[in-house]
Amino acid sequence: MTKRPVAVIILAAGKGTRMRSDRPKVLHPIAGRPMLRWAIGAAEALAPERIGVVIGPGMEAVAAAAAPYSTRIQERQAGTADAVQAARDLVDGFDGAVIIAFADTPLVPAETYRRLADALGRSAADTPSAIAVLGMRPKDPAQYGRLVVADDGSLTAIVEYFDATPDQRSIGLCNAGLMAFDGRFLPELLDAIGNDNAKGEFYLTDAVGVARGRGLSCTVVEAPEEEVMGINSRAELAAAEARAQEQLRTAAMAGGATLIDPATVYLQADTQLGRDVTVEPSVVFGPGVVVEDHVTIRGFSHLEGVVVRQGAIIGPFARLRPGSEVQADAHVGNFVELKNTVLGRGAKANHLAYLGDSDIGAGSNIGAGTITCNYDGYLKHRTVIGENVFIGSNSALVAPVAVGDRANVAAGSVITRDVDADALGVARARQHGIEGWARTYRARKSAEKAAGKAGKEPAPSSGEG
Ligand code: UD1
Ligand code: MG
Repeated sequence: MTKRPVAVIILAAGKGTRMRSDRPKVLHPIAGRPMLRWAIGAAEALAPERIGVVIGPGMEAVAAAAAPYSTRIQERQAGTADAVQAARDLVDGFDGAVIIAFADTPLVPAETYRRLADALGRSAADTPSAIAVLGMRPKDPAQYGRLVVADDGSLTAIVEYFDATPDQRSIGLCNAGLMAFDGRFLPELLDAIGNDNAKGEFYLTDAVGVARGRGLSCTVVEAPEEEVMGINSRAELAAAEARAQEQLRTAAMAGGATLIDPATVYLQADTQLGRDVTVEPSVVFGPGVVVEDHVTIRGFSHLEGVVVRQGAIIGPFARLRPGSEVQADAHVGNFVELKNTVLGRGAKANHLAYLGDSDIGAGSNIGAGTITCNYDGYLKHRTVIGENVFIGSNSALVAPVAVGDRANVAAGSVITRDVDADALGVARARQHGIEGWARTYRARKSAEKAAGKAGKEPAPSSGEG
């Protein structure tokens, strides 16, 4: 059997009031990626012919996050069936599987989307199913829609909680939200759905009853509860984050990285860790980090927007900020911050430094306390350091400034002019010594102290005894 084409419609018009947020719910990130993009990512894995996102009026930020996929606007939130109606042009005449997904149910794996689409071809009864519904058996079925299943295993109805009888509410099998439709039937099923129910909404779930009435069969595909977790509140967002983190850690380890204490390492959906990377406890990865093979990232380091090349050693307590690249075998030590900086192959910045907007050549050594003064209060400027340069401790490099290959900068210098290759740049007061000065000083001070004590007047009375 050849695979039928797939279309995915993602519903995201909900306001998400329970988030109590100025940001649309589906843009809240999980592991750094907006919820909506997780749903889109799962959809993309099916290589669908069409992906459409249904949003509410004025949700431009959501539309931008959906790009390059097109959005349809549901003018008024009149229910999930009405939301699909808003995307009718994407499903009319589509001869394939149409999956309807919820943007606030972001951690459903692509494989589950696939199982749902594939279930359309089969059925517990003899006829192929027109609808496949994702089911779950939650510990607390709460207010989920209940799935009513016949003896032959086919699905006969979805009953929304508020419309369910006590008997129906006792059913443990619930509607997780995702549904797949045979595209040939979807338009007529949508058109037949009314809003005569407790909420006065057009329920997409009613499509099952309508389909049964027309002699079409429906089926259930079950998934574990954690997979289909919906997000309505900040607490549920945190639960989803925890689950995503666990999956990302497992994937990183499966890819050959050692996480010594995985639970303390925070990854992003886009974090890339190579083989034989070791990550010590309490390391945070922000967005856009690529770590090549054989890198060690020591404890309490924070990385974002950085590429760390083979064999480099980072931390402990290092901060790597966006636009940076740590080249092969370079070392970044404790309390060193890099921003928009390239640290060359084998170069070392081991202690207490701020290196911003700079290029540091291979093999150079940046002493403790080095600061690139990259900002003059108005503009940012670059510091360019050549290869095999030695920057002495506690130097300030006032950008724009360049230090040539193999040059030295004397410790404690404030460098405001370029230093030539092979030269020494020194910019500090010259030291001189005064013979016997400390001895004379001690003698004078102890004499003053003794005289002061002997001749001391009694302390003036405060008058209070
Ligand atoms: C829905 C299901 C319920 C299921 C539950 C699982 C229906 C009628 N009910 O209920 O059976 O157990 O999900 O979580 O489908 N949306 C729109 N436009 C609307 C209404 C909703 O785009 O007019 C979107 C929301 O943004 C959300 C999704 O559809 O992404 C689900 O809507 P929601 O109101 O959360 O449905 P539930 O009441 O949770
Ligand atoms: Mg919901």
